[in-house]
Amino acid sequence: VKSLLVQKDRFKLNELVLYDNNAERQEAVGVIVRHVVEMFDPELKLTLTTDPEVAMTDADFIFAQMRVGLYAMREQDEKIPLKYGVVGQETCGPGGIAYGLRSIPDIMQLIDYMEAYSPNCWMLNYSNPASIVAEACRVLRPNSKIINICDMPVGTLRRMSYIVGKTPKDLDVKYYGLNHFGWWTSVKGKDGTDYTPQLIDYVSKHGYLTQKAIETQHMDASWQETHRKAADLQAVTPDCLPNTYLKYYLFPDYVVEHSDPNYTRANEVINGREKNVFGAARAITASGEFHGDEFSIDNHASFIVDLARAIAYNTHERMLCIVENKGAISNFDPHAMVEVPCLVGNDGPEPLCQGEIPTFQLGMMNQQVAVEKLVVEAYCEHSYQKLWQALTLSKTVPSAKVAKEILDDLIVANKDYWPELH
Ligand code: G6P
Ligand code: MN
Repeated sequence: VKSLLVQKDRFKLNELVLYDNNAERQEAVGVIVRHVVEMFDPELKLTLTTDPEVAMTDADFIFAQMRVGLYAMREQDEKIPLKYGVVGQETCGPGGIAYGLRSIPDIMQLIDYMEAYSPNCWMLNYSNPASIVAEACRVLRPNSKIINICDMPVGTLRRMSYIVGKTPKDLDVKYYGLNHFGWWTSVKGKDGTDYTPQLIDYVSKHGYLTQKAIETQHMDASWQETHRKAADLQAVTPDCLPNTYLKYYLFPDYVVEHSDPNYTRANEVINGREKNVFGAARAITASGEFHGDEFSIDNHASFIVDLARAIAYNTHERMLCIVENKGAISNFDPHAMVEVPCLVGNDGPEPLCQGEIPTFQLGMMNQQVAVEKLVVEAYCEHSYQKLWQALTLSKTVPSAKVAKEILDDLIVANKDYWPELH
């Protein structure tokens, strides 16, 4: 909200509506948002609601992020695979597959609300696991105005900009991949200066660890370790710069060895960010005092506002979005949902051609996209077999036997969310 309101002169708002289906969280977050609006744009009409019709009637943009099952289910997604010595991660491997099956129906419902109440609206969606969500949208709502996005490349680009002494807005990139699964092949200044060799050299030594980092996001010790590990990812594909999430696929044994099966990222977030945000809300409510600097504008916040603005003002700015390939990666499945630079204007994102990609990356992407497609097929057909195949095919899982053991545990844990499989 702060990210929107500090730009109010460049992006005029008539009304801001906060929607949550969880009244308790809505009320706590609402306390902070009311203060933010009062401080940064007191004229703005603010509505808080748990009614989708109220929320979504006459909307131009919906900024969506949902976590089906909340952190309790993220914890299951991470801990169940780890019991079997497999990567436990919210968006990668079996955990991401489990989360995907939970997210699909609720995302579809949100799209249906949007189309019923505001047929011309755009939904900009961060809900994870974005790759599976995007594939489900392609299959189940092919004509809907939803753009699936991720802040990881934006966050890493910010780090790259520190490394070369620029700002992210000074830089243009070439990038290809699936969500949480991609590579930069070029990072250049708007004046044409090529920073790629300098970045490759830096990342091969330090990963994406930087001296300067003003953001509050991606800063916990476990995230720092992820930024550092990019040095090892870079060694595997020396000509390009890796997305940090590739560590789960290229070094799963390392990740498992360095995981605590009894205390995962979900626990860190529950005891960290969740406590801080809701603690701050309580403190602000109790004291009635708000200074405006309690929360900072992180990458996800600035990116989604930039994207909405590009659509609203038809700016044709260049941004990474998750879109149907249609030849952007010319030697890859045209019907895969890929993450590539796009020009964004009134009609949404237009992908920029990234050309042919090398055999190693192509092989990895073919395997991973098949996992994602199998998950969506399993959802549509209620197929145990296809879901077992999806887990078996994930590069994070060693065998069909282990895949089955994990799957059978996940089915029990997700009984309130998943379709019944047969
Ligand atoms: C990155 C990813 C998001 C993910 C988040 C998790 O920003 O792009 O998709 O949700 O990390 O961060 P957390 O701090 O919750 O582990
Ligand atoms: Mn992401």
